[in-house]
Amino acid sequence: MPPRVLTNADLEKMLDTTDEWIMQRVGIRERHIADPGVATSDLGKEVAVAAIERAGLKPDDIDVIIVGTVTPDMMFPSTACLIQHKIGAHHAWGFDISAACSAFTYSLTTASQLVATGAYEHALVVGADVMSSILDYTDRSTCVLFGDGAGAVVVSAAADGDGAILDFEHEIDGSGGSALFMPGGGSLHPPSHETIDKRLHYVKQEGRAVFKFAVRKTEEIARRLLDRNGITPADLDLFVSHQANRRIIAAASENLELDPAKVVINIERFGNTTAATIPLALNDAVCSGRLKKGDLVLLASVGAGFTVGAVLLRWGF
Ligand code: ACO
Repeated sequence: MPPRVLTNADLEKMLDTTDEWIMQRVGIRERHIADPGVATSDLGKEVAVAAIERAGLKPDDIDVIIVGTVTPDMMFPSTACLIQHKIGAHHAWGFDISAACSAFTYSLTTASQLVATGAYEHALVVGADVMSSILDYTDRSTCVLFGDGAGAVVVSAAADGDGAILDFEHEIDGSGGSALFMPGGGSLHPPSHETIDKRLHYVKQEGRAVFKFAVRKTEEIARRLLDRNGITPADLDLFVSHQANRRIIAAASENLELDPAKVVINIERFGNTTAATIPLALNDAVCSGRLKKGDLVLLASVGAGFTVGAVLLRWGF
C-alpha cells in the first residue's frame, strides 16, 4: 500500500459525506492513496519483488509476468513491460489483462494455464491499481469507494502436489458496460478539452445496478464452481472475495451459507483497490495465520464489464 492514508474524516472535509454513511453503506473507514508521480508499476514493482523473494526465487527465475489493472501507467507499453524492467526479470515475457475488479482472478487463471501446460515453471501475477488517478473527488458516490494498492503471487509448477489451481470459472456480460466505466481517453473519446470539461476521464457508475449484479453473480459463480467439483461451501477453509462493499461480501457469503469465520473482509482499511483486493486479502490471511498450506480456498470477483470470475485452489505455500 502507498503510505498516505485518506480517512473518512478527511473525505468529510472535502465532500458532503459522513463516516457513518460510508461505514454503513460500504464498510470502508480508510484507504491508501499514492503520492503524485507514483504509478501502478511502482506499486507493482514493490509487491513483485516481495512475492518473488517470499517464493524463494530470483527475478530471473520468472518466465511470464501478467498484470491485472485498469490504471496502467500509460496506454502502452504495458505495465507488465514496465515492471519486468524495474525488477530485472530478464527472462520473462508478459502482458496486461483488462478485466477491472476481476483482473486478478482472470490473470491467475491465465498464469496457471501457462504453467499447467508445462510451457513455463514460474509465473508472476500482479494486481495493481492507482484508482485515485481516475476518481472524481467531487463525486461522492464513487470517490469514497476506492483506494490504491497492489498485490502479487507467484504461480509455480507444484513439485509436491500439495498446492494447485483446481478449477476456475469465468464470464463476461457486456450488456453491463454502461453500469461502470470510464468513457474518456480511449479511441472513442480521445483526450480533448471537451472530454476534460465533461469529466470523462473519471469512473462513472450506477451503484445500485452494480451492487445487485455483484451479489447475485458472486453467489452464482461460486455455487457453479463448487457443485462441479463436488464441494460444499462447508468444505472450504477460506472464501476470498473481491472487496467492493462489505454488504456485497456479506450478502453473497450468507446466501452461500458460509461460516463468517471463513470469509476474509479487509475492505475497512483499504477500500476497493480493484485488481489488488484479492491478493491483498490473501496476504492478510497468510500474515494472520488464517491461510495455511493445504487449505481449500475459493476466490470470487465481479467487476466492470461486467466481468465475473472464480478460482478454486489448494494453497501451496
Ligand atoms: N455520502 C453520503 N451520501 C451519499 C454518498 C456519500 N458518499 N454517496 C451517495 N449518497 C447518497 C445518494 O446521493 C442518495 O441520496 P438521495 O437518496 O438523496 O438521492 C443516497 O445516498 C442513496 O444512494 P444510493 O446510490 O441509492 O445508495 P446505495 O445504498 O445504493 O449505496 C453504493 C451506494 C455504496 C455505491 C452501492 O450502490 C454500491 O456499493 N454499489 C456497488 C458499487 C461498487 O462496489 N463498485 C465498485 C466496482 S464494481 C465491483 O467491484 C463489484
